[in-house]
Amino acid sequence: MARFLVTGGAGFIGSHLVDALAGAGAKVRVLDDLSTGRRENLPAAARLIVGDVADPGTVRAAMAGVDGCFHLAAIASVARAAEDWLGTHRVNLGGTIAVLDAARARGVPVVYASSAAVYGDCPDQPITETAPTRPLSAYGADKLGGELHAAVAARVFGVANVGLRFFNVYGPRQDPGSPYSGVISIFAGQLRRGEPVEVFGDGGQTRDFVAVADVVAALRAAMGRIGPGDAAGRITTPAVPQALVFNVCTGIATSIRALAAELAALEGGTAVIREGPARPGDIRHSVGCPDAARAALGLGPPMPLRAGLAGVRAWLDAGLRLERT
Ligand code: NAD
Ligand code: UD1
Repeated sequence: MARFLVTGGAGFIGSHLVDALAGAGAKVRVLDDLSTGRRENLPAAARLIVGDVADPGTVRAAMAGVDGCFHLAAIASVARAAEDWLGTHRVNLGGTIAVLDAARARGVPVVYASSAAVYGDCPDQPITETAPTRPLSAYGADKLGGELHAAVAARVFGVANVGLRFFNVYGPRQDPGSPYSGVISIFAGQLRRGEPVEVFGDGGQTRDFVAVADVVAALRAAMGRIGPGDAAGRITTPAVPQALVFNVCTGIATSIRALAAELAALEGGTAVIREGPARPGDIRHSVGCPDAARAALGLGPPMPLRAGLAGVRAWLDAGLRLERT
């Protein structure tokens, strides 16, 4: 039975990964400070360590005896990084270095969450992994810093690792009540409450929305490249440690206005749109090329946006039913 550490495992993406790993029979340990994550997101089979990913002693202890580490803990918001530059840097880059350092000490392969935010405003869309990286946010700069340290970790310290540049991930458990959450959950919540949706700027900016189930598949396939290949514990670590980086995306552009219309149609109406000021440093277009990840990780076709949004709606429905009982 393979044993995994998932940092940030009580969060949105992390908890879906924990469900999948535990469901496949793996032993899962989670390190999370529960700042945005929730204990209730975790299945009973997972062991939760409440602690700070930027604390080296905590991370080393959490990594003892595992076969692979998925590193997802971060302050996952461009806006929060703008408000608290140094505080988010401590967690987002400091936490990644703490994980790589513990992995070096314990000989553990690492799959970690990077972001499309490393690219900034890229003139060539869809964006391939070889495009220049020019982040437009402190958040993106720290994600890029994490990739640079991961490359050193492989080349110099022998830590096999894969970084996944997630584009805009959405799905059940993404908090509709937080202004720092993803746009899909925010809009879905506003439409549910019968409120207008607030579009920052003209709404012509585009994003590549990828369903959380597809992200979980990519995370598990990436671990299969460098570490325990499956829940039965087959180890496939290559002789020469690699530092690989892939986009996790669909290749499909959706404007923020089109997204609002699509969500409103699911509710059987039309969206009332309020235009707010553009967000400082907001990327105009962000659509990724999924081909390299598909080829290297053997991924299937992505979930269509409409089906994924219906899943979000069903999850919100279930939550409302629970609140009423
Ligand atoms: P999330 O906020 O739901 O999950 C992050 C988790 O990390 C939370 O459970 C939180 O409590 C935990 N955490 C935060 N600071 C911590 C600390 N100091 N110590 C321990 N735990 C800490 O966000 P998410 O959307 O699930 O993001 C997961 C990862 O994916 C992050 O690294 C994020 O940057 C990255 N990512 C997310 C998206 C997206 O669209 N959601 C896109 C690109 C990259
Ligand atoms: C998101 C992720 C980030 C990830 C990046 C990768 C979240 C919270 N952030 O950042 O972790 O690294 O993708 O591409 O998931 N918008 C509105 N109204 C709102 C909220 C947002 O118009 O109420 C607009 C924003 O201005 C932006 C777009 O929607 O243009 C997406 O915003 P958001 O969901 O915050 O994600 P990103 O900033 O793209």
